[in-house]
Amino acid sequence: MKDYIIHHEWKIIEEGFHPDLNRISESIFSIGNGKMGQRANFEEKYSGDSLRGSYIAGIYYPDKTRVGWWKNGYPEYFAKIINSANWIGINIIVNGEELDLAKANVISFRRELDMKQGILQRSFVAELKNGNRIEVFAERFVSIHDSEIGAIKYSVKALNFSGNLTIVSYIDGDVFNEDSNYDEKFWNERSKHIQGTEGCLEMETLKTGFRVCTGMTFTFYKNGELISFEPENFQKEKYIESKVQIPVENGDTVVIEKLTSTVTSLNHPDDELSVKAHEAIKRALLRGYNGMLEKHRNLWSNKWDSSDIIIEGDKAAQQGIRYCIFQLEQTYSGEDERLNIGPKGFTGEKYGGVTYWDTEAYCLPFYLSSAPVEVSKNLLLYRHKHLMKAINNAEKLGFKNGAALYPMVTINGEECHNEWEITFEEIHRNGAIAYAIYNYVNYTGDKEYLAPFGFEVLLAVSRYWSQRTNWSDAKNKYVILGVTGPNEYENNVNNNFHTNYLAVWTLKFTLEVIDFLKKEFPYLFEELVSKWKFSEIKETTRWKDIIANMYFPYDSNKGIFLQQDGFLDKEIIPASELSESEQPINQNWSWDRILRSAFIKQADTLQSMFWFENEFSEKELKKHFDFYEPITVHESSLSPCIHSVIAAKIGYHQKSYELYLRTSRLDLDDYNNDTEDGLHITSMGGTWMAVVMGFGGLRVKNNALEFNPFLPAKWKSYSFKINFRGRHLEIKIEAEKLTLSNHSNLPVDLKIWGKDLLLETNSTKTIQK
Ligand code: BGC
Repeated sequence: MKDYIIHHEWKIIEEGFHPDLNRISESIFSIGNGKMGQRANFEEKYSGDSLRGSYIAGIYYPDKTRVGWWKNGYPEYFAKIINSANWIGINIIVNGEELDLAKANVISFRRELDMKQGILQRSFVAELKNGNRIEVFAERFVSIHDSEIGAIKYSVKALNFSGNLTIVSYIDGDVFNEDSNYDEKFWNERSKHIQGTEGCLEMETLKTGFRVCTGMTFTFYKNGELISFEPENFQKEKYIESKVQIPVENGDTVVIEKLTSTVTSLNHPDDELSVKAHEAIKRALLRGYNGMLEKHRNLWSNKWDSSDIIIEGDKAAQQGIRYCIFQLEQTYSGEDERLNIGPKGFTGEKYGGVTYWDTEAYCLPFYLSSAPVEVSKNLLLYRHKHLMKAINNAEKLGFKNGAALYPMVTINGEECHNEWEITFEEIHRNGAIAYAIYNYVNYTGDKEYLAPFGFEVLLAVSRYWSQRTNWSDAKNKYVILGVTGPNEYENNVNNNFHTNYLAVWTLKFTLEVIDFLKKEFPYLFEELVSKWKFSEIKETTRWKDIIANMYFPYDSNKGIFLQQDGFLDKEIIPASELSESEQPINQNWSWDRILRSAFIKQADTLQSMFWFENEFSEKELKKHFDFYEPITVHESSLSPCIHSVIAAKIGYHQKSYELYLRTSRLDLDDYNNDTEDGLHITSMGGTWMAVVMGFGGLRVKNNALEFNPFLPAKWKSYSFKINFRGRHLEIKIEAEKLTLSNHSNLPVDLKIWGKDLLLETNSTKTIQK
């Protein structure tokens, strides 16, 4: 754990130059706009340790699979959203010496990420080997107003010299991924062009043939006055630059404003890319740096209006939760159903920027409550679009009749994961995708989504569960064998409770949806029956039999469901008895020891208790929490949030808060010692759940909102905002009272601590505790 980020309500601040922490800071200070994003690399040359990363949503390379022992059914490739052209490059040469903070004497250094406005800033004073001192202020953003534009303002002040300042603005397409499986580079050059103050570089990915054209232009100011200049342009393979020499006197300040465009063949015809890059540059120039910034800030302000969480009395917690919301907003903006959320977003190479069950299980609730309904719908449509690929994936594994197994990891619907115990066995992900449909419809009331999108996915997933389940004569029950639950510290187990439960739940939900469709959309249903060759009676008879006769491992002495068959044969030791040096066990124990132990990586049985809490009594929830929480090591960032919500539900408020703390500042404090790889974006959705669903107790039942809030002891108050079916609500929880505001023209029915309440349009109500 580190503690170098300065606590501030709206800003992330690093004071002082920490080359040893640079990769961590590069992750923490990442910026993005849902379509592209980048690590907080320096604009100028830096020869110290750094992971260069600039990523564009949907632009990937299928890196040939690399495994020790090939198994039939493994995918041929792992899709990676790859490092793309570096457009931030601005090199500074002072009287012939190039600025490089790894070599200069860094006298002061400060980095700031302004979350309110979505801007990254850096300032420093450095003395070069030649004794020349400069003061630099660098600011940049990737526009959320015009998502093809990136903008940089870079200012250099001569502190103790006169002479020549040379500024080189460039675009470099000769980039690589550190995690390339075969040390290959992934890009070819298509074309380049540079003339006067404008240039563009068009690159194409190998194999996938995505084209990206990156354009740039720039303007210079000296002591606040626009200056004209004649750049010296240069190009080489995969690279263009413009060099400008400016004579300076001691005390002069030179500012370069660099505007860039990134246009891709995902959104434009291949042969128009350089024109589109030019048009985007013109759009940006028309507004200028400040105009672009103004628009960007305004949109950030709107985003905060519908998603902010305010915590009074705990600056670290305030910064932590805003950071999570900020990063979620930067990662996914939801207008394009071809895009999704990678566990590390645009902040690193790990997990390749591709989609996991994390989206449905951990991120969807945030977008449901904080963004327009289309945003969540697009997350669901992404999976619907991949349905045929999921069916092919299941066929490849021997399933038939339209059964679908969604991939563990994907970008285009094809499976990319290549460890048998996960690829073939971690099948609960299929249930998470079904659950997300329920969650979406339950929250939004958009039942029409079920016809046909939701139903088609549910039918195919139900067919999978039906075929993946087999009858056991010995148990006289249906069983599901050879699986890995969410707890990846157990592989190839039989009857994982969560998987079996999800399978049964999916079948039940699909039956309900069928009844609904027959009633509300009978003609469409008939079409779907014929399109999917659905033998309703035959197929649903088996489903009903599975529902009635599924086996769930249970211990009647303890009165709990077991994570899987034989779980109690393990030695049950609380995680609190693990020594510091053994933790995390995934870095200190052999895999064999982990598999034999009872330690749980992340919520597994408790994942079901979280999703299906209504199907268990509070006493049952407590029993399961009391058994599983002490043996859970939370070595996945996705774990503490789920435990935190359950703890809140069963009245373990202090525990709920402690668990929340483990997620809220996970990256800011580098809790798991891995922030340098990138941020834990999907777990940030979990942190949001811990506050809103945990402390706030938000649920949607029978089309109405319910809250059961409590105030964590350390906080003076907290408030959150949610969108619900066209209503914009704000809930503030203080020690003595609760204030509810409805900022919309629609009334809303609520339940607060079990009591009904009608909140009229544009009104506020206060409830004394
Ligand atoms: C977790 C998975 C998760 C993946 C990506 C793993 O460590 O165990 O549940 O999907 O990370 O976040």
